[in-house]
Amino acid sequence: MTESSNRTTPVRRVSSPPAAESTARHNITVDINGETIEAEVESRLLLTDFLRDRVQLTGTHIGCEQGSCGACTVLLDGLPVRSCLMLAPQVDGRSVRTVEGLAAPDGALSPMQQAFCDHHGLQCGFCTPGFLMTLTSLAERETPVTLNELDHHLDSSFCRCTGYMNIRAAARHALGLAHVEGKPAQGDGT
Ligand code: FES
Ligand code: FES
Repeated sequence: MTESSNRTTPVRRVSSPPAAESTARHNITVDINGETIEAEVESRLLLTDFLRDRVQLTGTHIGCEQGSCGACTVLLDGLPVRSCLMLAPQVDGRSVRTVEGLAAPDGALSPMQQAFCDHHGLQCGFCTPGFLMTLTSLAERETPVTLNELDHHLDSSFCRCTGYMNIRAAARHALGLAHVEGKPAQGDGT
């Protein structure tokens, strides 16, 4: 059971299409961006498809579907995971955060989102949700983040538009690393 099961906020039950009788199904309860979601899901339903098609949270993107590109990254109990490599039944009783859960209820952008705006950290935006979730997990970590760790996390997602420099600049600012000495951050405005 999730923490959210004790809340007084309403539970949203999402529907599932009919499945062949031979397909095993599971009842799951999952906290998604602070909302308790109940659903009956097939054993082999990918978490990406559950989020996008059943819960209608289409901010989580699908790129490679094999764990390489990072576009589908969400936070599971606070840690980044590839949602294309997880099955919906695996998140039963857990907490999932997607890019839709980053902004405040009044629409104010999270510090990482604001940094991406301020430092032009996106072009087409396809990779952006994955980068934001990965970098948010770093930003919300209790221990300090080093430049090497930032670069390691940036390596985990593909961007085909920006050349990464502005994404790196945005992350450096949001993580308080703008003035930390490291390998050259050409074009990052630091
Ligand atoms: S779609 Fe999941 S890593 Fe590319
Ligand atoms: S902004 Fe287009 S793929 Fe990264």
